[in-house]
Amino acid sequence: MKVLISGGSGLIGSAISEKLLSEGHEVAVLSRSSKSPKQGIKAFVWDPAKSHLDEAALEGVEAIINLAGSTIAQPWTPHNKELILSSRIDSTRTLVEALSRQENQVHTFINASAVGYYPNSFEQEFTEADPPGSDFLSIVCQKWEQEASAIENLSMRLLRMRIGIVLDNEEGALAKMALPIKFGLGSPLGSGKQWMPWIHKDDLASLFIYALEHSEIPTGVYNAVGPYSVRNEELTKALAKQLHRPLFLPKVPAFVLKLILGEMAATALASNKVSSARIQSYGFKYQYNRLEDALAALYPN
Ligand SMILES: NC(=O)c1ccc[n+]([C@@H]2O[C@H](COP(=O)([O-])OP(=O)(O)OC[C@H]3O[C@@H](n4cnc5c(N)ncnc54)[C@H](OP(=O)(O)O)[C@@H]3O)[C@@H](O)[C@H]2O)c1
Repeated sequence: MKVLISGGSGLIGSAISEKLLSEGHEVAVLSRSSKSPKQGIKAFVWDPAKSHLDEAALEGVEAIINLAGSTIAQPWTPHNKELILSSRIDSTRTLVEALSRQENQVHTFINASAVGYYPNSFEQEFTEADPPGSDFLSIVCQKWEQEASAIENLSMRLLRMRIGIVLDNEEGALAKMALPIKFGLGSPLGSGKQWMPWIHKDDLASLFIYALEHSEIPTGVYNAVGPYSVRNEELTKALAKQLHRPLFLPKVPAFVLKLILGEMAATALASNKVSSARIQSYGFKYQYNRLEDALAALYPN
């Protein structure tokens, strides 16, 4: 199968591309740069802010994975918040418009979203049927999912994936948590009680490819999270244990995080316990069923 991945040069796109290539699929990416992210992957240039896409990118493509968007791990200034939202809306719209005007063979469109869609809760476990929250990230997710819904008019499958916290040892939230722990300066954040719906990056790549390959999985929303969520305190302790470092500092109070990170502190303090039951009901199996095994694979002794 030929798969086109927007934002395919990033953390998630690289993991999916690598796995697709290893399974004999063909991969191309849509990027703001013409540089190929990896040997064997062709990059097609686009400029979503100007609705521009090199239409040769769609030739022979059977599935599209739309990941592109400006990182949320940047100061949430008014300008950056606008970019976080508009980059996702523009990218999705540019793809929808290209698919609408150009004949194509695309049968499946996977659109990224995030567990930030859900409201914060220290008790409730969220399923795909639950209503959204009202904070900035939730609004971004709602508008992103809404923009992608235009795909449903194009007679192809639309799978919207609410992605959890992707575990990787080089990029993303876990790598940021590991750094102070390695220097003996780690501690849980805020109350430490907030739920974190983790997923190992290889399991996330497998989940996306499983969804592509199983046409019986219908159009809809799926939580792309691991088999269970853990509290921040539990993840911090398990990570410190895997890194053989002590955790002796007090928790970093929420107000200190807000002073340092501003509004972006919301990303560290968010609490979402998220169910993976729906994707599992279609037969998806995890390689990493236990957090400890996922951490051991990322930080081998
Ligand atoms: N990582 C996580 O834990 C996580 C969790 C939930 C949801 N997500 C979502 O999943 C998507 C992929 O995540 P990721 O971790 O792989 O992100 P990433 O590493 O930041 O990669 C995102 C890609 O999007 C493209 N991009 C960046 N700014 C852009 C802009 N202004 N306009 C258009 N494209 C832009 C870049 O590709 P080029 O430079 O090649 O154009 C970049 O490689 C993101 O939208 C993210 O919000 C991630």
